[in-house]
Amino acid sequence: MENIKGLTRTGYCAEYDIKDIGKKVVLMGWVNRSRNLGSIIFCDMRDRTGLIQVVFREEKNKSLFNKATNLKSEYVIAVTGIVNEREDKNPNIKTGDIEIEAEELRILSESAVPAIDIAENTATNELMRLKYRYLDLRKPKQQYYLIMRNKVAKCTRDFFSENGFIEVETPVLTRSTPEGARDYLVPSRVNQGKFYALPQSPQLLKQLLMISGLDRYYQIVKCFRDEDLRANRQPEFTQIDLEMSFVDVDDVIAVNEKFIKKLFKETLNVDVNIPFARMTYEEAMNRFGSDKPDLRYGMELTDISELVKDSEFKVFSDACKNNGSVRGINAKGCADFSRKDIDKLTDFVKDYRAKGLAWLKVGVDNEITGSIVKFFDKEQLTSIVDAFNGEENDLILIIADRNETVFDSLGALRTEIAKRMNLADHERWEFLWVTEFPLLEFDEETNRYYAKHHPFTSPMDEDIPLLHTHPEKVRAKAYDIVLNGEEIGGGSIRIHDSVFQEEMLEVLGFTKDKAQESFGFLLNALKYGAPPHGGMAYGLDRLVMSITKTDNIRDVIAFPKIQSGACPLTDAPNIVEKKQLDELGICLKERKDEV
Ligand code: AMO
Ligand code: AMP
Repeated sequence: MENIKGLTRTGYCAEYDIKDIGKKVVLMGWVNRSRNLGSIIFCDMRDRTGLIQVVFREEKNKSLFNKATNLKSEYVIAVTGIVNEREDKNPNIKTGDIEIEAEELRILSESAVPAIDIAENTATNELMRLKYRYLDLRKPKQQYYLIMRNKVAKCTRDFFSENGFIEVETPVLTRSTPEGARDYLVPSRVNQGKFYALPQSPQLLKQLLMISGLDRYYQIVKCFRDEDLRANRQPEFTQIDLEMSFVDVDDVIAVNEKFIKKLFKETLNVDVNIPFARMTYEEAMNRFGSDKPDLRYGMELTDISELVKDSEFKVFSDACKNNGSVRGINAKGCADFSRKDIDKLTDFVKDYRAKGLAWLKVGVDNEITGSIVKFFDKEQLTSIVDAFNGEENDLILIIADRNETVFDSLGALRTEIAKRMNLADHERWEFLWVTEFPLLEFDEETNRYYAKHHPFTSPMDEDIPLLHTHPEKVRAKAYDIVLNGEEIGGGSIRIHDSVFQEEMLEVLGFTKDKAQESFGFLLNALKYGAPPHGGMAYGLDRLVMSITKTDNIRDVIAFPKIQSGACPLTDAPNIVEKKQLDELGICLKERKDEV
């Protein structure tokens, strides 16, 4: 193997173009592909900027040509040569007008046959790609994700520091912060039997920084949540976290709209219009069955409870009697869905606890067919179809149930049908603030209220009197920012009064002792002059996903985890030596599958 002694790289592969003809260059990179045509070798050389063709001609330099015959994919080389105009131009690559006439070749590193195909970008099993992530990351597309992520991070730092925010690091070894997931725990060697929790977010610490008078804080920060993984979730992810003092909802929103505007201009050169649309949680649920509606298409929910509450179809009338409702969507032009398609949709909504899916099709001459025609007379059917503005070729899908189930299942169905029918314009950026979330959520299983955002969120002033009488009706000063149907961030105005914070914890079922034990440090701090404050956090990974238009969160993370929470590259998590466990005072229960 050779070295680079005496060579200095003159530039990156794809930086050169037709203007550089005649220049002598020194390039370093990988062999993307090498083709030996007998007396001439074309070698596509690659670095992080892209490809360039290098030519070795036997007639020009036989020993150099012979050396080049050894080149194989993924060898690392240094080439010195002259930029020439190419005879057969390649419009598919940036440097397709030129090639490098090689004068010197050094083989800096050889490569085993790569375990995954890099040059051709053929579909490879994702597990294999993640096991060889360092090879996968050689692909231009994969590098693009990381380069965009870097742009987002840089723009974030620029914006927030220009706007008076101070970046403060908060500890990773800390106490539990309740954001609704399980904690990752780290055992303490020095304090045996005690554990740190990795932060689910820096929520409480950033509130303490406001009490300290830092006034405006931000941080690009790792958060850890032990929850079931989905396409847009990782156990370890990154937030753009911020907090501001002396603000109300509109102030936080205004700063963040400015941030998003700058971010989209600088990363994508897209001009987004601010202010963004706003919608209350209630309106979002009623119209779209979702607190993160995708506004790039319509297909809004229609409530037909009034029309069917006295009908003979028990499923519909019972739902209305039991405080539920009957609602549906009009899947326009979908009357050609087969029975099998509709059965699949029925299974789909069952995942959201719907008990069934009623459907009506509008055919030629407004003939109405479907699963529930036998329960209604012609006039009733027409009035149902009219309520949905049903026209020839439409498919109307209806669910009767508790409101929560109706919204969840129709909201998901709306997204599913839009996906199938490709209704979303992929060039559009629809931002939306969803506001006035319910403060609390009742969980029937545990028979208690939980904070919908987190327990430090302030109720809306006018709803405070309802806190003890109708807790479920209290709205919060909480907001989410939604982009094209994805929640990219969320936050709230916080409680800054110690007594009221204690009262809130009581509503959430904490005894005084338990509240002190878990959040005593916050309750105490709030007694020493806490300014009104609020903030939010973006999922940085999700923002980058939107900007790069990928629906796989693993694409935008250099070394992501798979579904099981494992890392196929490093094999984490792994077993540890008994000695380490002994030092920590940890004794594992015998696991059945090991016996
Ligand atoms: P929240 O829990 O809503 O708020 O989180 C903020 C944003 O973080 C992203 N996110 C995730 N991204 C990837 N993988 C995950 N597992 C994951 N979980 C959350 C989402 C979400 O909108 N402390 C509050 C913020 C505040 O009130 O200021 C908080 O953490 O995009
Ligand atoms: P059945 O009388 O069981 O044949 O039901 C008639 C239609 O009503 C079928 O298409 C069922 O899928 C549908 N259905 C059953 N339960 C519900 C429900 N809760 N909401 C909407 N449709 C339902």
